[in-house]
Amino acid sequence: MADIKCVGILTSGGDAPGMNAAIRAVTRSAIYNGFQVKGIYRGYKGLISNEIIEFRTNNVSNIIQQGGTILKTARSQEFMTPEGRQIAHKTMLQEGIDALVVIGGDGSLTGARIFAQEYDIPVVGIPGTIDNDLFGTDTTIGYDTALNTIMQAVDKIRDTATSHERLFFIEVMGRDAGFLALNGAIASGSEAAIIPEIFTEVDQLEELINNGFRKSKNSSIVLVAESELTGGAMGMAERVKKEYPQYDVRVTILGHIQRGGSPSAYDRILASRMGAAAIDALMDDQRNVMIGIQNDQIVYIPFVKAIKNHKPINRDLLNTLRILSI
Ligand code: F6P
Repeated sequence: MADIKCVGILTSGGDAPGMNAAIRAVTRSAIYNGFQVKGIYRGYKGLISNEIIEFRTNNVSNIIQQGGTILKTARSQEFMTPEGRQIAHKTMLQEGIDALVVIGGDGSLTGARIFAQEYDIPVVGIPGTIDNDLFGTDTTIGYDTALNTIMQAVDKIRDTATSHERLFFIEVMGRDAGFLALNGAIASGSEAAIIPEIFTEVDQLEELINNGFRKSKNSSIVLVAESELTGGAMGMAERVKKEYPQYDVRVTILGHIQRGGSPSAYDRILASRMGAAAIDALMDDQRNVMIGIQNDQIVYIPFVKAIKNHKPINRDLLNTLRILSI
């Protein structure tokens, strides 16, 4: 094993419910295995400006149930430059940090990969993002909780949609991915999901209307993945107003409510397993890998694969949604 005495841990990018459970697991598992642990605040920004304190087991007490991240998070422009990374490396040397565990999404792991290669540092990533868009892992930390939040919000909107017999476009997050929209639609019994993955293949709105998406009901709920391609829920509603003015349309954008709240049991367990696995990975001499979960088994995915490969949506789910919305 590389000579690791002290492990630094940070969260970066958009926060996700379950990040705290992961911080707790990394910290406790590291201490259990004899490492010193340092908590780095505000992601890579804090690595540059040295916002770092030693973490002991009680620094992570009573946080497993909390949403957000006690380490705070940021998207650091400076870390994207070689100069910024050089300062970050100096801080690591000053603080005696020999290895890093980075909890975050696509952008955060891209930064981790470049940094690890430039300075030959053992870095392990943990996928923490509500978007579920990292290749090589069935789910990411925060995705399940966000799905539940979406489901509960849609359940409420359905009451008013049914009462007024309206068509609702509900926009959900996901950056460029439709996982939240598609599975959120299935979980909430929505009529359809409009997702960026099939944007170029088919006019999803036209298909919806032509298929008579209100066959048996006078109200409809369509989940729209945020996307520049589709113009999101607003873009869809504008089109309906112009092209199908017979419908009474409303738009709800769920926004950052999807990122908050206490993590679900699933996310707490996933984060706990992944956090412990990150320390196992370092002890296994693994570096530049993301911890993933596939068929309930922990796996190591090289950063390059996790970031570069596009995670495909399960097209069977589109069909299921179509069938169930008759
Ligand atoms: O990656 C998580 C995410 O919530 C995306 O779904 C969304 O596009 C983005 O972050 C929003 O970022 P911000 O909070 O910086 O506006």
